[in-house]
Amino acid sequence: MERTFLAIKPDGVQRGLVGEIIRRFETKGFTLVGLKLLIPSQELAEKHYAVHKERPFFKDLVSFITSGPIVAMVWEGDGVVASARKLIGATNPLNAEPGTIRGDFGINIGRNIIHGSDAIETAQNEISLWFSDAELANWEPTIKPWLV
Ligand code: TYD
Repeated sequence: MERTFLAIKPDGVQRGLVGEIIRRFETKGFTLVGLKLLIPSQELAEKHYAVHKERPFFKDLVSFITSGPIVAMVWEGDGVVASARKLIGATNPLNAEPGTIRGDFGINIGRNIIHGSDAIETAQNEISLWFSDAELANWEPTIKPWLV
């Protein structure tokens, strides 16, 4: 089953958006299989954003993401990687459509509330970077009336 890695960034946590964001993925129909709150280490943040290490915003990005607790999550379901990106919205919240998380709650690209893996392979790498196998629950809802 397809899985993705999502992280509510320090701005999302401090603004009290954790419940609202989790609600959106739950009510969409995806299954939560991993969840933890942590302040990422510098090393973890640098590994997570390694693809951007030559970009001018890298230093600020790492310092922001390590500045406070984030909520790291793994969600499961058909098409969850691409669907989560749609629910999250464009990278710059000013360009994100209303109805998306960034479109509804943000105005600043450096404070865009949530991270979501951009492809299935990235998701697999990010899940194993942030979670051990023991931290993931392999389960399926026993009833999925919304799919029947
Ligand atoms: P990116 O992977 O391009 O976006 P996304 O989070 O939508 O997958 O960029 C990673 C993060 O880097 C992005 O969420 C916010 C930050 N960022 C900036 O601060 N300035 C920028 O110009 C860009 C492109 C990203």
